[in-house]
Amino acid sequence: MHFSYFFGALALASSVLAQNATYCPSGGVCYAVNVPATTASSGSGDIYFQITGPSSMSWIGLGQGSSMTGANIFMIYANAAGDNVTLSPRLGSGNTQPKSDTTAEVTLLAGSGISNNIMTANVRCSNCNSWSGGSMSLTDTASKWIYAYKSGSAVSSDDVSANLAQHSSYGDTTFNLQSAAGGSSDNPFLTSTATSTSSSGSNSDSSDSDSSGGGEPRIPANFANVRKAHAIMAPIAFVMFFPIGAMGIRVLSFPGLVWFHAGWMTFTYVIVLASMGMGVWIAVVSQQLDEVHSIIGIAVVGALLLQPISGLTHHLLYKRVGRPNAATYPHVWWGRAVITLGIINGGLGLQLSGNTVKGEIAYGVVAAVMWSLWMVVIALAFIKSKNKLEGETGEAIFMDKQRHDSTEMMRRSVSYQNGSPLNLSFPRENVAAPRPMYG
Ligand SMILES: *[C@@H]1O[C@H](CO)[C@@H](O)[C@H](O)[C@H]1NC(C)=O
Ligand SMILES: *[C@@H]1O[C@H](CO)[C@@H](O)[C@H](O)[C@H]1NC(C)=O
Repeated sequence: MHFSYFFGALALASSVLAQNATYCPSGGVCYAVNVPATTASSGSGDIYFQITGPSSMSWIGLGQGSSMTGANIFMIYANAAGDNVTLSPRLGSGNTQPKSDTTAEVTLLAGSGISNNIMTANVRCSNCNSWSGGSMSLTDTASKWIYAYKSGSAVSSDDVSANLAQHSSYGDTTFNLQSAAGGSSDNPFLTSTATSTSSSGSNSDSSDSDSSGGGEPRIPANFANVRKAHAIMAPIAFVMFFPIGAMGIRVLSFPGLVWFHAGWMTFTYVIVLASMGMGVWIAVVSQQLDEVHSIIGIAVVGALLLQPISGLTHHLLYKRVGRPNAATYPHVWWGRAVITLGIINGGLGLQLSGNTVKGEIAYGVVAAVMWSLWMVVIALAFIKSKNKLEGETGEAIFMDKQRHDSTEMMRRSVSYQNGSPLNLSFPRENVAAPRPMYG
């Protein structure tokens, strides 16, 4: 390979030129770091780095640290004019989109820009030896860095706190800052910008990076579609169908309502299972299984498994005892709590996918309206059911029609029992009052 000639020549020249450590994960993205000689000897001061990649990337990021939490992150994306990049320093805060960091002393240098479909950022950082949440020895032979990028449309923003979608690829690497040390250029990457190619990058850096290899997921082509399906099905189930099923049993009244409720909720749970299957796949291929959204999602779907069990137990006991029983309240309140958590988790999912603020607001409004409606129905049902005999489902709350289903029979038998001689001396209201309500 003719590359070795280059490498030999450059190795000779390296005593004069600024040294750099480079790493090119894939996708045409490359990172390079230079620690000027003065910084290397004093342990603090300016360092330089370069981020390059195709403009088919929505954004490209590099961070100091071994994981997103506490990392000192630098994102670049196309500016509003489309001729340069916006450099956005951010602090990694775990599972959420990193927040813009105003304390980072970073400067975008000459040579930065977008040309020939390549985004380039030449950056000087004057306080990269420590930041809120971490620090880095600028002479470390194995300094820990993370990187990520997202393919997609241009962000086209001059705002350093622009809302960025979740990375499509990420990983970590180490830079030997000793071998990146040298030179005194105040823009070490300026001249090499035009000539640096991905092949020289990926070859020359192999000794600098002991990247963990498997750290970078390959995103399958249908990823976006599956994620879209997941983002439609799960909200329909949690925000619409579950609350509708829960409200239905409060406000409707017809023979077999209990079984309609059971069927409706089971059908909705099937939708939930399908969307969880997609969610798990999404999380596995994008390495997001440890995200809060993924964990809560799986917990919620697991927790809902209790519902058919408690619901059926309630029903069977009701058939025998004729009143709300040990399984009634667990079924009702567990369902309300878990579905509410599921609704909240939808918001976390939108945040995780880097959905637009508009999208998040739209979800928030619809979810809040549905949830409030549900709570109002619960409250009204509770108030109306006070001092009233009720059937198994507590229906007949809003309707006083005569019903002839098995539920109604239950109610009658209950009334009959309550009308036993023991209770005869009590007014009718008081007969019903001590019985626990569904509330
Ligand atoms: C991009 O911005 C940097 C910093 O302001 C500047 O030095 C550089 O010349 C700009 N590049 C282009 C192509 O305008
Ligand atoms: C980094 O240094 C190597 C050789 O020392 C050089 O070939 C390469 O172009 C440099 N990369 C950048 C981005 O300056």
